[in-house]
Amino acid sequence: MSVVAAKELEDDAKKYASEAIRLDSQGAHGMAIQMYQKVISTLVKLVHLYPDYRLNKQYTERAMAYQERVKAIQAAHGLLPQDQSSEMDWTIPGKNGGAGTNASANSPKGPQVVQQLKASFSDLVITEKPEVKWDDVVGLEDCKQAIRESIVFPFLRPDLFKLGWPRGILLYGPPGCGKTMIAAATAAEIDGYFISVDAASIMSKWLGEGEKNVSKLFANARKMLSENKPVIIFVDEIDSLLGTRGQEVGGEVRVRDQFLRETDGINDKGKNLHLYVIGATNKPWTLDPPFLRRFAKRILVPLPESDARMSQFRMYTAPLTLNEDVNLDSLAKLSEGYSGSDIKDICQGVQLRVVRELFSSGKALDKETQTRPITVADFKEVMRTRKPSVSPDMQRAYLQWSNNFNAL
Ligand SMILES: Nc1ncnc2c1ncn2[C@@H]1O[C@H](COP(=O)(O)OP(=O)(O)O)[C@@H](O)[C@H]1O
Ligand SMILES: [Mg+2]
Repeated sequence: MSVVAAKELEDDAKKYASEAIRLDSQGAHGMAIQMYQKVISTLVKLVHLYPDYRLNKQYTERAMAYQERVKAIQAAHGLLPQDQSSEMDWTIPGKNGGAGTNASANSPKGPQVVQQLKASFSDLVITEKPEVKWDDVVGLEDCKQAIRESIVFPFLRPDLFKLGWPRGILLYGPPGCGKTMIAAATAAEIDGYFISVDAASIMSKWLGEGEKNVSKLFANARKMLSENKPVIIFVDEIDSLLGTRGQEVGGEVRVRDQFLRETDGINDKGKNLHLYVIGATNKPWTLDPPFLRRFAKRILVPLPESDARMSQFRMYTAPLTLNEDVNLDSLAKLSEGYSGSDIKDICQGVQLRVVRELFSSGKALDKETQTRPITVADFKEVMRTRKPSVSPDMQRAYLQWSNNFNAL
């Protein structure tokens, strides 16, 4: 057999696999399925062409895992199987008369290719300190205060907390209002370790290995603890760990159960354990009661009020040249219902308007020429075409959920 040719197929499979996983994580289901199928057929080809290649068992297992994933996506999204390739022949032509090796056999040792095919644990877990500071987060004073009280106070004076203190904090609210940002700022502000994981990518990139990686995550966090600094695990889009009710896509039930076990572990063991879990979600209503119970603090990160919008406009327009008619007060009035991230987009939008103008005038390449000052009309025009990303209905849904479940 030619190892070189095998290597080529292997490389193709890897390339397709990372592409498939990327598409999958972006929710491009149809394209992801096609790409997974390409991976599968490449792996199967490899197995059939080189039956005694030492990695065959792993290829087969991997192909089956991708196949499972395809089926799961199809089931979850009502997509019909696209072609016959979903009924592959999984029997590896065996050396001794083709008894065949079923791919569900024991897990092999040294799965090199498999290791490279899947995203590594460290790719998804970020432990470095983010640059964001508390003061960069506009408004959200309640939220900051709650985080300080829950993490900083118990850390400084655990002896004062005779009844213990909560280890789980859930930040919930409409998209683009600062949940991720405030978590990052917490990390920068607190002298401790911050482990950030994105639940959505865990579920898609760890393809059925989420459970194991959840244990690994907590095990790593516990190891860091020995140094007597708080350790914060931040799980963004934590709702992805649960999947859509009744529609398991990538082993969510096991991942979720593992997650609950691990969080119980921190709550029980040793009263002075400074290990915290901050979860963030735009879809708090998808979290079930056992899950919510682990997050004793549940904090709404709402759409910015008028004052906060004004400060955001102040911050984002600071580097821009504004016309005299632009006044932050009126921008705040005009932008009711917009999120922080919308406001950032609006400011980028007005900037683009004047830059675009300069380019159409043909003078942009002269480094001396600057854009004209931005007027209120520019802001109005951008806001006319850029609607708030949170609808009033959605906003009501958050408030209603908050009435039932908020816990400061
Ligand atoms: N309260 C805020 N203060 C400053 N910037 C904000 C705020 N809320 C949102 N933004 C801007 O919007 C972006 C997206 O916010 P993010 O924290 O990712 O929102 P979420 O996690 O709630 O969806 C931030 O990077 C920041 O530029
Ligand atoms: Mg976010």
